[in-house]
Amino acid sequence: MSVSRPLPHDAAALHATGRARYIDDIPVPADCLHLAFGTAPIARGRITAMDLSAVRAAPGVVEVWAAGDLVHNPDCSPSAHDEPLLSDGTIHYAGQPLFLVVADTHLAARKAARLARLELAEETPILGVDEALAANSRFEDGPRIYAKGDVDAALARAPHVIEGRIEMGGQEHFYLEGQAALALPQEGGDMIVQSSTQHPTEIQHKVADALGLPMNAVRVEVRRMGGGFGGKESQGNALAIACALVAARTGRPARMRYDRDDDFTITGKRHDLRVDYRVGFDSDGRLLAVDFTHFMRCGWSMDLSLPVADRAMLHADNAYDLPAARITSHRLRTNHQSATAFRGFGGPQGMVGIERVMDHVAHALGRDPLEVRRLNYYPEARVEGAGASGGSIFEAKMGGRLETADLAGRGAMKVKPTSGRSSRYGGAHSPVPVAARDGVTPYGMKVEDFILHGMTDRLADSCDYAGRRAAIAAWNAANPVLKRGIALTPVKFGISFTLTHLNQAGALVHVYQDGSIHMNHGGTEMGQGLFQKVAQVAASRFGVEMDRVKITATDTAKVPNTSATAASSGSDLNGMAVKAACDEIRARIAAVVAPELQADPAEVVFADGMVRAGGAEMPFEEAVKRTYMARVSLSATGFYRTPKIEWDRIAGRGRPFFYFAYGAACSEVVIDTLTGENRILRTDILHDAGASLNPALDIGQIEGGFVQGAGWLTTEELVWDDKGRLRTHAPSTYKIPACSDRPDVFNVALWDGANREDTIYRSKAVGEPPFMLGISVLMALSDACAACGPHYPDLQAPATAEAVLAAVDRARGAP
Ligand code: MTE
Ligand code: MOS
Repeated sequence: MSVSRPLPHDAAALHATGRARYIDDIPVPADCLHLAFGTAPIARGRITAMDLSAVRAAPGVVEVWAAGDLVHNPDCSPSAHDEPLLSDGTIHYAGQPLFLVVADTHLAARKAARLARLELAEETPILGVDEALAANSRFEDGPRIYAKGDVDAALARAPHVIEGRIEMGGQEHFYLEGQAALALPQEGGDMIVQSSTQHPTEIQHKVADALGLPMNAVRVEVRRMGGGFGGKESQGNALAIACALVAARTGRPARMRYDRDDDFTITGKRHDLRVDYRVGFDSDGRLLAVDFTHFMRCGWSMDLSLPVADRAMLHADNAYDLPAARITSHRLRTNHQSATAFRGFGGPQGMVGIERVMDHVAHALGRDPLEVRRLNYYPEARVEGAGASGGSIFEAKMGGRLETADLAGRGAMKVKPTSGRSSRYGGAHSPVPVAARDGVTPYGMKVEDFILHGMTDRLADSCDYAGRRAAIAAWNAANPVLKRGIALTPVKFGISFTLTHLNQAGALVHVYQDGSIHMNHGGTEMGQGLFQKVAQVAASRFGVEMDRVKITATDTAKVPNTSATAASSGSDLNGMAVKAACDEIRARIAAVVAPELQADPAEVVFADGMVRAGGAEMPFEEAVKRTYMARVSLSATGFYRTPKIEWDRIAGRGRPFFYFAYGAACSEVVIDTLTGENRILRTDILHDAGASLNPALDIGQIEGGFVQGAGWLTTEELVWDDKGRLRTHAPSTYKIPACSDRPDVFNVALWDGANREDTIYRSKAVGEPPFMLGISVLMALSDACAACGPHYPDLQAPATAEAVLAAVDRARGAP
């Protein structure tokens, strides 16, 4: 069976040899035009005069359009219709597109775009959190608040109360393939768009609106992206719309790609976040109440900021059962690029807040932060099903649910039954009142699948957390200049789109007469391996080898009305939709061949390239041929909608998530207290991908996610100057992790329990959750800084060398 095998990425060889085709690799069609935006040099103001004559006169330029040259200025926003393609005269951020250059070559368009003569009435931009608050510059009328229990009363009664603040920076996606699109005009005004997008349906919808066409006149195709990371959920709209407009007006193909500096300057990034906290706790470190205030700078337009800010609130608890909690979220409108989706979609920012609180509380009490974390965990889920105590989660929940064939290859999967709540890291302490710790999140969802007690035990054992902590203490005592630190942090990440209706997917599967299979679904491939996983599902349903399944480009004409490939839900949703389509065809084949095998259709099994029933069998392609001869369709659509979820985002109540994905990471770092330089010495990870569809791809996601998360919290620093211009707009000034920045020792293992919920082959989503394992690095750095003196180091993120140096000073008593 193909599912659960560690197969390489379907395009691995193409990636490695440079033959994988991205948008800009599509051979240039005859007569193709190339586009570039002219952008705003200031962050806020008005255009009083714009002289484009030099742009028009530049070599190779065919057309130059400002907003006034368009019949109507199309909107690029995924949400609030607040993003005109070209400035309407008002400037909202430095980098905003003001005019569009259409030229014979990419370089000619880019060079010409710099020749505009602008007269601008500059205004003072709103840049900082405090300025935005003072100006009441925000999205939504006021802050949004989710709450559980009486926070003020609990804080008043708490034996200990501390407060603090952590500010964490944003993050540039730095997908290797920049934003790109190509529009090909068709007869009768129809349009085909090739786009590097996570959301082909959104591109179709926005292009159709821009051209005044129905959606059925626009077809969008995406074979792959060279990385998206959330930065291609909405940020590709402008390029696709611009190309389609030019193609429609000129009748010529049009393509556009941002050069790296333009990509940095024009497109949105991760939201930065300031978290203020007040926390009440007892002498063991058990949290009694937390009051969080989130200040999120959202940039100039709404984009996806509301659900991002919601998700930050929904992860403000992370793994901890808080008796009383209040999360107040301010969504501030500022004169920056419009912050957008980025792996974790606000979850990482919310989670850093509570992990920082755990670190601070442990420091205040002089306790091991892992003990404090464990003490506050949600209760471990009971092992359900057969017998109370025995068996693995996998066996208990899955026995009899899947066909025998589906279990092949999974025999090795055994889960050590977790032993209730008592454990070495905090679980054995006196119980708190039942009413207070109820296993319910601040947004009213009961946590029913919590497995972090068992995972933490196993990871702490395998990485020798206790032994190494003692060794580090001894090492630090002997080393005045270099200091080491260690931290083990958990991740609990909610899986589903919080906008409930997005949790649906479709698929289209054809079986040809020769037994070959053509598979299509609404998900997009961005390097995460979705296509391979879903192809493994298709091969498994038909019981054939992978080479029979053709993976095809995402195409809005094959599967309509898709959601963005986002929220890590790609394989959950599209895997189920493809399974539904395959099972439909399987049932039809079974109905045809069952009489010939002298069996009931329900007994027919598809395995090993054969179709079997009773004692008889025939090759899959023979069964296919007979189905065709019987004039029965070998093509089917499939559809899936996630069950059980319902969510009221205004009230902050309901079940936004189908289930949670879990993980834990232990990182050890070393800092140089003279320079602030630092390194990750070792990281051990235990991550929960459920019953993995493909362990090789999942481990790749975990490694990549961790490194990207660690980069966010250490070296990746976005700097805007006091005029709101982004100064870090190229790899020369913005530092993403290099290969040499990964941990020297890096051990990654998959937890071996299956998903308790009925997902595709009991797997779990894995795209985003591992990103937050990078938080262990920030906390380990805090631990190393804390080794320098008695005071709390108050380390801020990203923990650049400067930030580490400042934290070392604070630990030693500097104000
Ligand atoms: N992995 C790679 N290699 N490239 C990417 O762009 N995007 C991440 C994650 N892993 C990304 C990636 C993000 S933000 C999401 S939401 C998921 O993949 C989307 O894919 P999935 O739903 O199939 O996991
Ligand atoms: Mo991922 S941020 O949901 O595209």
